[in-house]
Amino acid sequence: LFKSKFESYVNLIEKTINEKFPESNSEYALVNQASRYSLLLGGKRIRPILMLEFAKLFGAADSDVLPFCVAIEMIHTYSLIHDDLPCMDNDDLRRGKPACHKKFGEDIALLAGDNLLTESFKIAADSSACAERKIKAISILAERAGFNGMIGGQVLDLWFEECTPNAEQITRMYMMKTGALLSASAEIGVVLGGGSEEDLQNATNYALNLGLAFQIIDDILDITGDEKLLGKPIGSDADNNKTTLVSILGLENAKALAQELTQKALECLSKFEGNTEFLIELTSSLLNRNY
Ligand code: IPE
Ligand code: IPE
Ligand code: MG
Ligand code: MG
Ligand code: MG
Repeated sequence: LFKSKFESYVNLIEKTINEKFPESNSEYALVNQASRYSLLLGGKRIRPILMLEFAKLFGAADSDVLPFCVAIEMIHTYSLIHDDLPCMDNDDLRRGKPACHKKFGEDIALLAGDNLLTESFKIAADSSACAERKIKAISILAERAGFNGMIGGQVLDLWFEECTPNAEQITRMYMMKTGALLSASAEIGVVLGGGSEEDLQNATNYALNLGLAFQIIDDILDITGDEKLLGKPIGSDADNNKTTLVSILGLENAKALAQELTQKALECLSKFEGNTEFLIELTSSLLNRNY
């Protein structure tokens, strides 16, 4: 049941991406092709699925939420395109295909990222939610993707290649580079569904614990994963001299920490009144994923 619900969410999200961000036949369509190439390549769609499920918990209508689902996946995809550029992680494979800059060149890949980021806000603004909720949700989207969120985290990630950060510093960096977009997803679901401030806080705590666990598993898979399954290069972190919680703690202890964090995330879920069965399964399945 979990698997079929997950798959139907993925289908709904991909169908909506195609509707809201269609092909173009303008003379500058190349950047649209590059954006759609990376956006539709695949990917687990965890963020929009989290958002939809949190929104459902509070009874939001699909037409309120789906534009934001597309927007968060666009922002996430832009972060991946830029993350793979030679000036950042310099990775050639993404979602099982050549990275955007390998296929379209660095110039168009850079602009494809900019395009996805910018257009995402236009699509979010199309949501049928009432103005008050919509503005709050858009503000969260910007805040979590921006300076004090994903972007700040990526800056710390780059700096930490040049020094020897401790576990506390790495944890903060993970919360920003990975936790922020996951927390935006959960939070926007709560806001669009009209949840309380307490629900919002609980959603943030849930997603930050999930985000830390998620990045630890990502770092583990960067060492122990199967490139074919993972769809991105193995050994990227070592190649880039990244200190990770795995390089500090070792594989076993890092996995144990991810387990602990997943447990904390599940405790947050238990505070919600609605049916969290799917979210519980999703949270646990991400701990044991192999891609
Ligand atoms: C990869 O995110 C980047 C991280 C924040 C670890 P995902 O593992 O969600 O990537 P896709 O969307 O499934 O490709
Ligand atoms: C990425 O962390 C976080 C982003 C904001 C893109 P990683 O650099 O470890 O992600 P992957 O392994 O390339 O997907
Ligand atoms: Mg990176
Ligand atoms: Mg990377
Ligand atoms: Mg990684």
